[in-house]
Amino acid sequence: MTSCVSYFPLFHVMNDRLNLKKTIAKDSLASTDSLKHIAFIMDGNGRWAQKRFLPRQAGHIKGASIVRQLVLNCIQKGIPCVTLFAFSTENWARPDDEVSALMGLFLEHLKKEVESMRAKGVKLNVIGDVSRFPSELQKTIRHAMEVTAHNNVLNLNIAANYGGRDDVLKAVCAWQEAHPDKHISNLTESDLSSHLSTAGLPDPDLLIRTGGEFRLSNFLLWQLAYSEIYVTPTLWPDFDANELDKALVWFEGRDRRFGSVNI
Ligand code: FPP
Repeated sequence: MTSCVSYFPLFHVMNDRLNLKKTIAKDSLASTDSLKHIAFIMDGNGRWAQKRFLPRQAGHIKGASIVRQLVLNCIQKGIPCVTLFAFSTENWARPDDEVSALMGLFLEHLKKEVESMRAKGVKLNVIGDVSRFPSELQKTIRHAMEVTAHNNVLNLNIAANYGGRDDVLKAVCAWQEAHPDKHISNLTESDLSSHLSTAGLPDPDLLIRTGGEFRLSNFLLWQLAYSEIYVTPTLWPDFDANELDKALVWFEGRDRRFGSVNI
């Protein structure tokens, strides 16, 4: 049987033909105000490395190295919020040396980029339970979040030891703790949203998943309810400015109805 992945070129051509309602010059994407938040599932680092007969860690090194330029491209396009899935609650199941390499990369890049984030107006927010991370990494995360707390050019959320189900569960518990006298049946969607790790931020308009898999992998389950989902076979280390533009052009052609109809 042919796999789904082999349908990708056709899938994208069909979407381009059927859904691209307007022709958009690349530069006009910079002024779009319909895109407030992009979430990324950065998949494919391991395959990128394997294709080059390199250890998986080499893929993570390359994958981490492209994040800086991606964030700069989003700033340039006026996108105010970006969320990156760096480490899931399930990723602890990977070999110890891979987990350590990922922690090391996170630490190295945070230390290297904190000053640049501060200067460029990036507000860093690490979402997820970081209490299991090495203490130096926890300290560096806290410092980077404090130093960038007043920035407002771009909100950069890094999901680390993050799980979407855990986020929802914690939000319900936090609400109940804040309202001990209220019955749980009083909890509204807006109450729940305001207790999630992304509280105060718009839900993602667009989810981009690299590496070709059609799944959410326990990422932002509540927040992605009405997001447009763009899956590309491009592996994360190869996701450059041109790939971002392709995703944005695709997004601009989407007809977002939020459960309603266009008349
Ligand atoms: C999935 O690829 C990727 C990860 C589990 C880690 C993503 C982490 C980074 C890009 C680096 C650290 C990030 C920052 C923000 C500094 P995979 O290993 O599952 O790839 P595969 O599906 O090809 O095996």
